[in-house]
Amino acid sequence: MLSSFERLLFIRRVSIFQELRDEFLVQLASAMDEVAFPVDHTIFEEGEEGRSLYIVVSGRVKVHLGDRELAQLEKGTFFGEMSLFDAQPRSASVTTLDKCDCLTLNQLQLQDAIEETPEIAVNITRALSRRIRELNSKINAYEAQLQAGNYSKA
Ligand code: CMP
Repeated sequence: MLSSFERLLFIRRVSIFQELRDEFLVQLASAMDEVAFPVDHTIFEEGEEGRSLYIVVSGRVKVHLGDRELAQLEKGTFFGEMSLFDAQPRSASVTTLDKCDCLTLNQLQLQDAIEETPEIAVNITRALSRRIRELNSKINAYEAQLQAGNYSKA
């Protein structure tokens, strides 16, 4: 459990909140919920309705579709933003790899934060762009492996 001061110091360093005014950051820090999960716990499953964005305070989580791991996320990163933005079900499941503490932000709190500081939306978009780049290189590597496999069979 973080003290209010530690919580404030922590969220100030989270990339998506960097431009927020101090007064708003204090308000946001106190409104966020802190949740603790044991190791190997599924925080949510693909297809569920999404109501919150999560920020990893400690530990690591994996984002996965069934047994296929898409990404591992660690301290200071966030997940669960996609459903809040497009009002679609969760695009993947998220399961803890360690004991994990997270701070959560609901849709209204996220909207308020974006209205207060539109740069947050830009920061989130930046993170989404990075994820697409990572996916593109994974797809590329995967396709190259497939092709190499096909050529060796021919
Ligand atoms: P959401 O769709 O709400 O729930 C699943 C979350 O996993 C999603 O939001 C993103 O935060 C995260 N996520 C989905 N796909 C990836 C990916 N390829 N890399 C990293 N995180 C992802």
